[in-house]
Amino acid sequence: MDSGYRVAVVGATGQVGTLMLRLLRERRFPAAEIVPFASERSAGRQLEDGLVVRGLDEESIKGFDVALFSAGGATSGEWAPRFAAAGATVIDNSSRWRMQEDVPLVVAEVNPEALESHHGIIANPNCSTMQMVVVLKPLYDAAGIERLVISTYQAVSGTGRRAVEELLDQSHALLHDSDIAPPEQYAHRIAFNALPHAGSFAEGEDHTDEERKLINETRKILDDASIRVSATCVRVPVLTGHSEAVNVQTREELSPEQARELLRAAPGVVVLDDPASAVYPMAIEAAGHDEVFVGRIRRDPGHERALDMWIVADNLHKGAATNAVQIAELLHERGLLGAGHAGQVA
Ligand SMILES: NC(=O)c1ccc[n+]([C@@H]2O[C@H](COP(=O)([O-])OP(=O)(O)OC[C@H]3O[C@@H](n4cnc5c(N)ncnc54)[C@H](OP(=O)(O)O)[C@@H]3O)[C@@H](O)[C@H]2O)c1
Repeated sequence: MDSGYRVAVVGATGQVGTLMLRLLRERRFPAAEIVPFASERSAGRQLEDGLVVRGLDEESIKGFDVALFSAGGATSGEWAPRFAAAGATVIDNSSRWRMQEDVPLVVAEVNPEALESHHGIIANPNCSTMQMVVVLKPLYDAAGIERLVISTYQAVSGTGRRAVEELLDQSHALLHDSDIAPPEQYAHRIAFNALPHAGSFAEGEDHTDEERKLINETRKILDDASIRVSATCVRVPVLTGHSEAVNVQTREELSPEQARELLRAAPGVVVLDDPASAVYPMAIEAAGHDEVFVGRIRRDPGHERALDMWIVADNLHKGAATNAVQIAELLHERGLLGAGHAGQVA
C-alpha cells in the first residue's frame, strides 16, 4: 500500500466513533483519507480535527477500503452491506451481525485467524464479552473451561452519550435538592443506584439481551459451544469502565499462581493483584487505557477446579474502539484490505 487506504467512520460524532477517529490517528493507521459519517442531523458539522461530517447516501459511500461502524444496529443493518457491496471491508461495533454464521466475531488477541474467512463484514464483540475473553483465552488454552458464572457492573457510557448525561444530570439534581427529570435511558433512576437490568428484556425473556450476548458471543469467540455460561448484567452509576466478577470453572486443575503467571504473559492483559495493599483493578483507573486489567484471582472455596477473578476495562477503548482499530491493523498486516477482498453478506 503506497498511498494509504480510504477509511470511513460511521457514527463519527458518537463516543465510540470519536475515539476510533483519535486512535486511527494516534496509532498511525495507514490512511490516505478518513471520512466521518453520522446521521443527517450532523451532516456538514466540522469535527475538532477539521473533518466535515457527511450523511449516508449511495454516492457518498463509494470508494472506501475499510468502514468502521458505531452507529447502532439499525444503521449497520441498512448500511454495512451497502458499504461491503461497494468494496469496503466493514468492522461493525453493533450487535446486528455478530451471531451471523458467515460473519467473524473477532477479538484481536484471541481469534485473529477468524479474519481470514470474512465476506465483507467483521463484527466487534459486545464490550463485556470483549474484556472477559481477553483474560479467559490463556486460561482456556491451558486448562479448558467448563463453566462461567459472571456478574457485570457496567458503566453508563456503554449505553451511549445520552446515558452519561442522564447520570450526571440526576446526580447534580440529587446533590442540589432539585427536581429530577423522569429517567429516559433506563427504567429507573441510575444515580446512586444499581440496576439488575443492563440491556433490554425481549417479550417472554427472563435474561436481558446483554446477558444473552455474553453467553452466545463468548462461545462463538472461543469456538466452544460446550462452555456453560451464567450471566447477570448490572448497570451501575460509573461513567466509564465495566467491571466483572467472573467464576471460571476449568476442565483441568489450574492454581491461582498458574493463572497469574499465564495472565502476566498474555497480550493486552495487565495483572493487578495485591489485595493486601489494596491493589486490584478499578474502573476509574482503567478508564482511558487500551488494556484489560485483572486481579483478585483466588481459588473458589466452593469448587476444586474453579477460580474467582475481577476483570475491568474501559468499555469505549478495548470494549469497542481499540479492538475495531486493531482489527483494521490486522487486516492491513495480513493483506486482507483493498480490492478483491470484500464480498457480500447475505
Ligand atoms: N459505548 C460502548 O461502550 C459500546 C461498546 C461496544 C459497542 N458499542 C456500540 O457502538 C455503537 C455506538 O455507541 P456510542 O456509545 O458511540 O453511541 P453514541 O455516542 O450515542 O453515538 C451514536 C452515533 O451514531 C450516529 N447515528 C445515529 N443514528 C444514525 C443514523 N440513522 N445514521 C447514521 N448515523 C447515526 C450518531 O450520529 P448523530 O450524532 O448525528 O446522532 C452518533 O455518531 C452502538 O451500536 C453500540 O452498541 C458501544
